[in-house]
Amino acid sequence: MSTAWTSRYAMRTKGLKSSAIRELLKITQRPEIISFAGGLPAPDVFPVERFREACKKVLDTNANLGLQYGASEGYEPLREMVARHIARYGIKAKADNVLITSGSQQALDLIGKLLINPGDRVLVEAPTYLGALQAFNVYGADYVSVPSDDDGLRSDLLEAPLRSGPKFMYVLPNFQNPGGTTLSEGRRHELVLLADRYGIPIIEDDPYGQLRYEGEHLTPLVVLDRANLKRDNGYSLGNVIYLSTFSKTLAPGLRLGWIVAPADVITKFVQLKQGADLHTSTFAQLVAYEVAKDGFLDEHVKVIRKVYGERRDVMLEALQQYFPPEVKWTRPLGGLFLWVTLPEGADCKKLFEAALRENVAFVPGDSFYAPHASHEGHRHFRLNFSYGQPEQIREGIRRLSLAVKEQLEQLHAVSVR
Ligand SMILES: Cc1ncc(COP(=O)(O)O)c(C=O)c1O
Repeated sequence: MSTAWTSRYAMRTKGLKSSAIRELLKITQRPEIISFAGGLPAPDVFPVERFREACKKVLDTNANLGLQYGASEGYEPLREMVARHIARYGIKAKADNVLITSGSQQALDLIGKLLINPGDRVLVEAPTYLGALQAFNVYGADYVSVPSDDDGLRSDLLEAPLRSGPKFMYVLPNFQNPGGTTLSEGRRHELVLLADRYGIPIIEDDPYGQLRYEGEHLTPLVVLDRANLKRDNGYSLGNVIYLSTFSKTLAPGLRLGWIVAPADVITKFVQLKQGADLHTSTFAQLVAYEVAKDGFLDEHVKVIRKVYGERRDVMLEALQQYFPPEVKWTRPLGGLFLWVTLPEGADCKKLFEAALRENVAFVPGDSFYAPHASHEGHRHFRLNFSYGQPEQIREGIRRLSLAVKEQLEQLHAVSVR
């Protein structure tokens, strides 16, 4: 007798959808397509030789550890390395404050597991990272969305949503995915103070912070929280949980990220992580440690900044050259993405189909808004500039401009009718 699986799915799976981006990536893998859709790092900057040496070193000298089960908290030397690394941005943490996760995507899932009861509200930016919505949706999150502009989340619009009592707020201060925007220093201060006033914890997701192509590093929320609110009580961090990852600086295939939180919260995360995967791959952690150590990671990040900074410039120049003047876009100071806005009435899903006919792809904006949020996602789309070679970026934007012009002509024809 065959089992009717669907009737047995748990309530929390109701309404779950596959990630729009993962589905799109399948289409956009056709070789003739220039894809600006994925958030993929450039394979040409993967430090392959260093990985080869690191794998050999781990197998030659530390195979007993590297191929064995490990601690759920993560490989101690890697946790210490993370603590040292974030200290340079003013984040004061010990290894006890660091949990190694299987990518920061797992950190988002563990946060959902730890904090969200069905119906709890999560305050998010509009637009926000699609993968966070996917992680939180499983736990039955509702959302309160706060708009953002070129300076990031509109802190002037925060009070009413905070007063409505969300469980926590989820914020991407640096080179936001998908907007490419950076939360200004002034707004960072305001946000931390408001969150404290209303007793709402902050999840600060920072996968891109190191990939800055111009300007100065801005203070992380976790640091402002301690400084502004005089929380300098040793290593017990305060109102902010901070996330980051090796995905954008070393390689996403490693699946290595980390959570920085007060030690007692880390203990709770560890209990949840044990049920999920026991621990993050020991081999990946030992290899990442070998690759990153002795200053290699810093040197490598310089290379990535140069390559991605140039690609950003190429994309911005091509947009300027090919796109009609009524189309606007953000000018990111770092990260992997920029965000395009079409005039009122445009429909990026139709544009997506037209773009595919021109053999170019992007992600339509709708995917980046919390369910039921009122938004104008149909006027926006996200472009990735890290993955393609400069000449592909230029050609892709030229092709995309043809689809955009076609869509705008149709729009004008409708409006004069
Ligand atoms: C904002 C943000 N958070 C988290 C992630 C997940 O990264 P990973 O799981 O590869 O560390 C991504 C990936 O693109 C992201 O853009």
